[in-house]
Amino acid sequence: MCGIVAYIGEKNCVPILLEGLQRLEYRGYDSAGLALVKDGELGVYKKAGKVAELVRSLDSMNGTLESTLGMGHTRWATHGEPNDVNAHPHWDNSKEIAVIHNGIIENYQAIKTKLLQDGHTFSTATDTEVLAHLIGAMYEKVGDLCSAVRLALSEVDGTYGIVVLSKRHPDRIIAARKGSPIILGVGEGENFVASDAAAIVDHTRQVVYLEDGEVAELTREGFRTMTIDDVRTEKVIEEITFDISQIERGGYEHFMLKEINEQPETIRDAMRGRLLVDEGDVMLGGLQHVMGRLLSARRIIISACGTSWHAGLVGEYIFEQIAKIPTEVEYASEFRYRNPLVNIDDVLFVISQSGETADTLAAMREAKRKGATALGIVNVVGSTIARESDGGVYVHAGPEIGVASTKAFTSQLTVISLIALMLARQRGMTKEDGVALARELESLPEKARQLLKNTEMIKAIAEEFKNAKNFLYLGRGANFPVALEGALKLKEISYIHAEGYPAAEMKHGPIALIDENMPVVFVVPKDAIYEKVISNLEEVRARRGRIIAVANEDDHEIEGLAEFVIRVPRTYGFFGPILNVIPLQLLSYYMAVARGTDVDQPRNLAKSVTVE
Ligand code: G6P
Repeated sequence: MCGIVAYIGEKNCVPILLEGLQRLEYRGYDSAGLALVKDGELGVYKKAGKVAELVRSLDSMNGTLESTLGMGHTRWATHGEPNDVNAHPHWDNSKEIAVIHNGIIENYQAIKTKLLQDGHTFSTATDTEVLAHLIGAMYEKVGDLCSAVRLALSEVDGTYGIVVLSKRHPDRIIAARKGSPIILGVGEGENFVASDAAAIVDHTRQVVYLEDGEVAELTREGFRTMTIDDVRTEKVIEEITFDISQIERGGYEHFMLKEINEQPETIRDAMRGRLLVDEGDVMLGGLQHVMGRLLSARRIIISACGTSWHAGLVGEYIFEQIAKIPTEVEYASEFRYRNPLVNIDDVLFVISQSGETADTLAAMREAKRKGATALGIVNVVGSTIARESDGGVYVHAGPEIGVASTKAFTSQLTVISLIALMLARQRGMTKEDGVALARELESLPEKARQLLKNTEMIKAIAEEFKNAKNFLYLGRGANFPVALEGALKLKEISYIHAEGYPAAEMKHGPIALIDENMPVVFVVPKDAIYEKVISNLEEVRARRGRIIAVANEDDHEIEGLAEFVIRVPRTYGFFGPILNVIPLQLLSYYMAVARGTDVDQPRNLAKSVTVE
């Protein structure tokens, strides 16, 4: 949510900032802007639309922009519609200071009222402009930029990752964080600030993660950090491993298609070095120190948002079926505000691709505060959830750029399966049963590869239904969350209304929608409840609904029942979602392509939601 990048050094930073913004664009893309300090001037250039619009408007200016100190921002609007004026950076009252911001200043109205009384004039509808003015007002009092930022931040409620520049201080950048990630990139005679590593990884791999409540002052030569109350803090410089090819499209038309196709490898990567097939067991380093608490857990609570929440719903089946531990799943946004009954013998798993989702982070903090053990299943290494949890497991899916999550989901399910198998073995599952599960897990990457080879049917279905207004997705058991995820994927990128439902529950409502125009996707593998789902399918057939079935390769019965059949390899019921979701990802992808929508950056969405 909102991308931030800043540079101080000897080079011309304009290309560095624009490339950084392009890499960050998946975080938010409704407007973008730059602020540059040069020859005692502070220039601000901003434009509604994607970064490409900003680049076009800069290209059309006379002369080339150059500076060795600057910052850039790509926005996902919270306060004020996305237009040129509301785009960041924002000036203070004197137009000497500029601010970029990710997050929400909750008490901005009160601060604005006071500043208006003091004679400030505002030209945007944003909370960020108010923060810029407050910093400017503090600067008038103390004459030091870093102190002005600290003093201003001590008066604001809410969340922020910010960068501040002043034309009076061409030798420094101030950055701060509370709730929204900020990293410092450390170079030779140059330093960077970014909201995530993708923006700066071309230039340095030495990074420092700011903690909540920390402020940083960067010069060309170095940096120092402190708390908002001006207590110095010591930071460790960490080396990030990052393969640039992971954040490039690599010949694919869209990141989403690339990421869907990476799943045979990413599922394997999630298991690599962890799954001990011959022993029927699992080794997860990040959980060893909490194993006692995990084994004595009275129940597991899973909390997450979006696609990760769907992974949690599948996780409930996996934990209960394999590890036999009662499991509950809750939206993080609901969990955090309902004063949940959490005990010290509960274990909370939070699932998050980004490791930064504001509600998920807050749910984790709430559970920790109540004494529970809080563990993370996270993709982004070094993210806030990864760092603040009591332990956890990285899913190692690599950077996920497409806004609609795909490979992270199947990796999350793989990791949940590993955790469940590990706990099951510790709780008495026989080695023989463990080996059978481990062998099946080991076979999943190859099965995923097989099913990715057959996309012709999916493309044909997309062509047939590209003008549909509604879609219904139905599944039962562990495949009910798959139906939810299939519907979510379609909504996100093709803007077709879609609902996921438990197949049997359909007759209590959605059945009223079914007629000859209604496509209904059934996820119907040959498992213990196959016949039950077929009965639900017959109910749709009887009302002339148009049936698309995701079914196993050896299911011959289905041909006579469904208009379209997408084949998936067979696996154990609780591992089925890892495979069954893949054709649904592809279906939404090809539908979106057929409708000409922006697959990787669908309207109104953002990859990493760092506001409530
Ligand atoms: C956003 C993204 C979704 C994602 C959700 C949770 O809504 O667009 O794809 O599932 O956030 O994100 P997380 O990073 O916590 O998994």
